[in-house]
Amino acid sequence: MTTQLPSIFLMVLVASVFATRTEAPTTLKDAFQGSFVIGAAVNAAQFTGQDARGAGIIKAQFNSVTPENALKWENIHPLPDTYAFDLPDQYVAFGEQNHMFIVGHNLVWHNQVPDWVFRDKHGKLLTRDPLLKRMRDNVRTVVRRYKGRIKSWDVVNEALNEDGTLRQSLWLKIIGEDYIAKAFQFAHEADPQAELTYNDYSIENEPKRNGAIALIKNLQAQGIPVTSVGVQSHISLTWPSIDQEEATTSAFAKLGVKVVISELDIDVLPRTAKQGTADLDTNIKLDPKLNPYADGLPDSVQQALAKRYAELFAVYLKHRDAVTRVTFWGVTDGDSWLNNWPVKGRTSYPLLFDRTGQPKAAFQAVLQTAAPH
Ligand code: XIL
Repeated sequence: MTTQLPSIFLMVLVASVFATRTEAPTTLKDAFQGSFVIGAAVNAAQFTGQDARGAGIIKAQFNSVTPENALKWENIHPLPDTYAFDLPDQYVAFGEQNHMFIVGHNLVWHNQVPDWVFRDKHGKLLTRDPLLKRMRDNVRTVVRRYKGRIKSWDVVNEALNEDGTLRQSLWLKIIGEDYIAKAFQFAHEADPQAELTYNDYSIENEPKRNGAIALIKNLQAQGIPVTSVGVQSHISLTWPSIDQEEATTSAFAKLGVKVVISELDIDVLPRTAKQGTADLDTNIKLDPKLNPYADGLPDSVQQALAKRYAELFAVYLKHRDAVTRVTFWGVTDGDSWLNNWPVKGRTSYPLLFDRTGQPKAAFQAVLQTAAPH
């Protein structure tokens, strides 16, 4: 009896260790616990609970949220004297109730900003100081309202051209190059604890990446607190290469900023726009050739998507010291903006959950990358 006891203990011990090792996590947030947080861009139907199925998936799978549209200037500040806080308040409450890392998207952008912002009451373009004042008032009002609750702000969105030069937006034309530094300063003054991000698409491409690196270095040299770079990652099955992903992550990590994969989706539909763009101004006419999977996704493409997601997550995990968050731009394929961009009315399949809310092969493939090998 006395000699048998230790061996029984040993068996129990071995069994429990074995059980914990083989019980792979079944949710994204658990699978990547300790590596990075996993987010989703959420729409109003989801965070108000009107889309109960969507809300359920978000609560079960994700530990971070980004508002797909609710905090953009045209929605939160549609008229000079009108702030519409109702939906943004509900968004932040949703994130808090579910103990999520809450992201603010975004403060200064050339899109989804009303035209009045740039004009005086006679319709004439503003000059530098009045526009700076408007930017400051807006940033202060919005950031202060959610101080300590929204943990990370996309301060400036998409300031660069493909060649790495600064985009000729009205912000740049009217204020000048320092509009970017000013936006970060105003955000920092409003909430000194918040993470502040520069966010852009196709910065995996070298010329634009170099532009982003120069921009970050320039901000750092002036003592402007930029904490992270958001690599939007609206990508395809073939672009960017894994080498580009590696090089991009390493290059930003070297600057001492966090790398956030801020808007991930993988388009499986034929490319129409220039490879790698996410420019909202692109709008191409619907043609059946451009919508080949209207009746369902062939298994070969489903598997290719799963493989591509797995390869990407392997890169993110390898760089887990730098990568702090991976956020998908939507939850189910039906929600994705890619059903309407760059062509309106397509049937798109870029995410991990299908139109009925079921996990796709890509979901399993992503979970698998986190499993102990
Ligand atoms: C998109 C939203 O998903 C759409 O619902 C909206 O109509 C247009 O904007 N880059 C960004 C996001 O930073 O804000 C964009 O979101 C997608 C491209």
